[in-house]
Amino acid sequence: MTLDLLYYFIMKKQRTFLTACVFLFICWNLGAYYVFVYGTKRTETLPAPHLSERLARLQSELKDQMQVNEQLLLDIEKEKAILIQKKKDQEILQYKKKLEEENKKRDENNLNINNELPKPQRTKNDYSYSSVVLPVLLIACNRPSAVKRSLDTLLRHRPSEKQFPIIVSQDCGHLETEKTILSYGDKVTLIKQPDLSDIKVSTQHKKFIGYYKIARHYRWALNQIFKQLNYDAVIIVEDDLDIAVDFFEYFLATYPLLVEDKSLMCVSAWNDNGKPDRISNQADLLYRSDFFPGLGWMLLKETWIDLEPNWPQGFWDDWMRHPDQRKERSCIRPEISRTDTFGKIGVSKGQFFEQHLKYIKLNTQFIPFTQVDLSYLKKENYNPRFRKEVYDAPEVSLHQLTKEDARGFPVVRVKYMSKDSFKTTARTLGIMNDFKSGVPRTGYLGVVSFMYRGHRVYLAPDPSFTGYDVSWM
Ligand code: UD1
Ligand code: MN
Repeated sequence: MTLDLLYYFIMKKQRTFLTACVFLFICWNLGAYYVFVYGTKRTETLPAPHLSERLARLQSELKDQMQVNEQLLLDIEKEKAILIQKKKDQEILQYKKKLEEENKKRDENNLNINNELPKPQRTKNDYSYSSVVLPVLLIACNRPSAVKRSLDTLLRHRPSEKQFPIIVSQDCGHLETEKTILSYGDKVTLIKQPDLSDIKVSTQHKKFIGYYKIARHYRWALNQIFKQLNYDAVIIVEDDLDIAVDFFEYFLATYPLLVEDKSLMCVSAWNDNGKPDRISNQADLLYRSDFFPGLGWMLLKETWIDLEPNWPQGFWDDWMRHPDQRKERSCIRPEISRTDTFGKIGVSKGQFFEQHLKYIKLNTQFIPFTQVDLSYLKKENYNPRFRKEVYDAPEVSLHQLTKEDARGFPVVRVKYMSKDSFKTTARTLGIMNDFKSGVPRTGYLGVVSFMYRGHRVYLAPDPSFTGYDVSWM
């Protein structure tokens, strides 16, 4: 009976039953879907405790890694600095080895050495340079692009701002030039020559007025350096000079020499006969010279105090060369110039530049002069050696040297007996043939040293030479 009833019911309510089943099935699936989707999403938004721990660990691992990387970078930088220093040390070592070999060779060569004479001790130099301050005085007027070029090279090669403060002294009141100088900010100091008034000169000298203005400017600027700013020494450059890589090193190294040797009045960067064919490639070779070269030079306060009261109205450089100022003092000059002038347009109108100045070679090799004992350049060490070197060299005639090539004689001496024979020989061999106060350019004890077709030539007076003849012009 019950079964019958059930059967009846099923048959009768089949549709309702099926609908209910379908409904239940759908609900089941929806429920499962809900649990699956929203359940998972909740897990994602609220991380399980173990995941946040992993993240924190990852974060700290990254931090550690970053620290390791930073340390690595520092180590690399350190290694780099060590390598650079090693390279420099190696260069210096090689240079010293070369010097030792040269000295040894010289010792063996009886032609060039006298064992009784003091030998140049070109070994380690113990002088403490760190306390030396050498201001650079740049003389400027109205050439903004020249000033810019000069300042850029000075700043490029300057090893220390503290040791080599740059002071630009400007004459001429030229605004563009002043702006250019000021654009360097606190890298340089600008001082301005205040007296821009006309200078009264004779009618014949009107064309030389520029030289008068330059002299006025020099006097004012050097007084500023020594009397106002109170420096002990100065390196003077003009606004149309390029400088060599070891310009600062050269002046720093020769500073103690200038202080100690009272027979020196300056150190100059310039070789008047520094054309490529007239110089050797011996970049460390330095000389004494009785001819004031200018063009990048170092002056001491005591010398300025002595010179200043009689400072001339014009032509200051020739005035310096006069015996009254020179007082038989000399300057140090290099074989290869440490300055080079690009000033084609200037007070002297470019003629000298075209014929001569533009050919002077600027040194390119850095010589660690401060590592070398330069005491061999002191007068008492230098003179006997120099005389010996010159007068032991075999004498050749000008004809022998130019036509027969004096083969087999690396060092020769060509004699001059008079002003005219000097001039003819100098012209023939391609060196400067003029005199200032009787001194030929680069001359020392009357001797001019230069290269000619692979020979070291000493153009020299008789060994009995006692002094210059100021009437030689
Ligand atoms: C030449 C010399 C120079 C010397 C000058 C004076 C050479 C290559 N140059 O000058 O070393 O100082 O003679 O005898 O041998 N200047 C002023 N005020 C002026 C004009 C120029 O201060 O009214 C400055 C320039 O800025 C420059 C210097 O003086 O620094 C020389 O002037 P420049 O025009 O270059 O003359 P040079 O013929 O080369
Ligand atoms: Mn010039």
